[in-house]
Amino acid sequence: MAESSKPIFYVTTPIYYVNDVPHIGHAYTTIIADALARFKRLSGEDVFFLTGTDEHGQKVEKAATERGLKPLEHVDQMVVRFKDLWKALNISYDFFIRTTQPIHEKGVQKIFKKLKDKGDIYKGTYKGWYCVSDENFLAEDVPLEEEGYKICPDCGKKANVVSEECYFFKLSAYQKPLLEFYAKNPTFVRPQSRMNEVTSFCRQGLKDLSITRTTVKWGIPVSDDPEHTIYVWFDALHNYLTGIGYDWNMERYKKFWPATIHLIGKDILRFHAIFWPAFLMAAGFPLPQTVYGHGWWLKDETKMSKSKGNVLDPNLILKTFGADPLRYFLLREIPIGLDGNFSHEGFLHRVNSDLANDLGNLIHRTLTMIQSYFKGKIEEMDNEESGDRELRLAFEGLKEKAFVLYNEYALNKALEEIWVYINLVNKYLADNEPWKLARDKTKRKRLGRILYQAAAAIRGISYLLFPIMPESSEKIWGFLGEEKGLTEEFFSELKFENLNQEHKIKEHKPLFPRVSLKDFLKEEAAQPHQDKREEKMEYISFDEFKKMDLRVGEVIKAEKVEGTDKLLKLEVDIGTEKRTMVAGMADVYSPEDLIGKKVIVIVNLKPALIRGIESQGMLLAAEVEEKAFLPSFDRDIPSGTKVR
Ligand code: MSP
Repeated sequence: MAESSKPIFYVTTPIYYVNDVPHIGHAYTTIIADALARFKRLSGEDVFFLTGTDEHGQKVEKAATERGLKPLEHVDQMVVRFKDLWKALNISYDFFIRTTQPIHEKGVQKIFKKLKDKGDIYKGTYKGWYCVSDENFLAEDVPLEEEGYKICPDCGKKANVVSEECYFFKLSAYQKPLLEFYAKNPTFVRPQSRMNEVTSFCRQGLKDLSITRTTVKWGIPVSDDPEHTIYVWFDALHNYLTGIGYDWNMERYKKFWPATIHLIGKDILRFHAIFWPAFLMAAGFPLPQTVYGHGWWLKDETKMSKSKGNVLDPNLILKTFGADPLRYFLLREIPIGLDGNFSHEGFLHRVNSDLANDLGNLIHRTLTMIQSYFKGKIEEMDNEESGDRELRLAFEGLKEKAFVLYNEYALNKALEEIWVYINLVNKYLADNEPWKLARDKTKRKRLGRILYQAAAAIRGISYLLFPIMPESSEKIWGFLGEEKGLTEEFFSELKFENLNQEHKIKEHKPLFPRVSLKDFLKEEAAQPHQDKREEKMEYISFDEFKKMDLRVGEVIKAEKVEGTDKLLKLEVDIGTEKRTMVAGMADVYSPEDLIGKKVIVIVNLKPALIRGIESQGMLLAAEVEEKAFLPSFDRDIPSGTKVR
């Protein structure tokens, strides 16, 4: 195929927040992208696969400060975790973009300027609520809580008030062009249900979007007004242009833009299906073909996410099983648009039954029989029409179906079809019982034919599985004595008859050993665990503990601290004296609730000035979702009693 006539396939993942610990959810998007990229390469298309990390913004700035590092030092350390995971998962990306790279920053500044010069970006003042965790401006209709603040509807965290001068993007001007574009391109957003969601959101009207901050320093400065840094989402979305070379490798950019498919999770659909095409329209870029919003991996029925503390670390599975079983499970278990529940039980069940039993046994027994009955030489000794063309014909049908399903991004269906075929081959062996034929010298030709058929089927299966299980597929290919690499054969050349009969099959090991849930859980329990906030446990010695003077006290006075929502000023009798303390619990307790209550106090904590009041100690409380709850005693304990 001539270089220029190859179809282009440009696939992207979202760029991940560099602060996050990569988990199964992040791995999912990236594995889908990888499987598509590999399939398209086999199909002879010219592929570019982009992934990367989102490294600016308030969340990163805050995390770096907490670690006592400069933001760039912090992100340089964090990015490694993503790169390592992608390596362990065999992710074949062509470029890894980081939004702190100068090639990206310059491109974003250039586009920003272009829009500003054109009048699509203008200066104003933003007053509203901002969620740092999601780096998102809250819609005006998000209700105000009784306590006087707003909760981010996406992540459930408290939002902050922002009131500052900023630049706005004229999103409102793009409502009509966007609706026209959706009408002309009904598959721009997939699956269909998500297209409907986007269209109806857009129909309700679009407000201009604040796209710079003056209070966040960790961002790309606006080139002629550097007090302003560019809003992380405006910055991040443009990675899809800069990552293929916009403004620094124009030849490559021209070759690959517009993107064929942006793979994203459904949580970031509006950014990709509304803001992104609007930015592109404004700057005069062609629009991407498809934004595919996949579902979420849930743990115990809620979205797996760092802030909820329910993330599953893929590294344990990778250590025990390698990449392919995880890749297989994630892509097989759910269709791309739907949510799925992840459990280790579900994972092991599928891997043991589909990989160890169905596929693993088929390969193992076929290759073992060829070794022992034919000294490893695969020969189709009886190639006359002997009535069992079933595997050959079924393979032709499978190949066609798999091609269509892969092209429709229906990866779980492609796998289902491949497994129907695997089971057909298993049944073929069970029905023909080659192990019995081997005992009868007159049946040798028949035996050769059966094993040839099975080996040819396995070769075809390994090829079709390659996009999803690249490592195992290459191994199987190698076991069959293939000399050229699997990826050197184009999809159009793949044939049942292509099995190389000239070479001996090689030594093989079982590819997918069975692992029992009990053993796996034992292994999991042996891993060093981190608590829900991913903080490492730091031990203190008993002597250090003894330094803390904890006492029972009684609240004798309580009042709200003027001008605050959360603070109470308390007077606490600690037996020997009365102390003034400031406690952040007015959102849970009213002053009257506390008077007469017995509490536990650290009495030798260094006094601190809070809102001009000297707080001479601290109450112990359990913290649940940023609210403080006091412990209680099951009997009356005198004030001043030591707590150990
Ligand atoms: N940085 C932004 C994306 C900017 S793209 C221009 C962001 N990053 S993220 O790290 O929070 O999430 C990125 C993606 O990770 C989500 O859209 C989704 O694709 C994936 N997932 C994160 N948690 C997930 C699950 N629990 N399940 C499946 N995928 C989810 O948003």
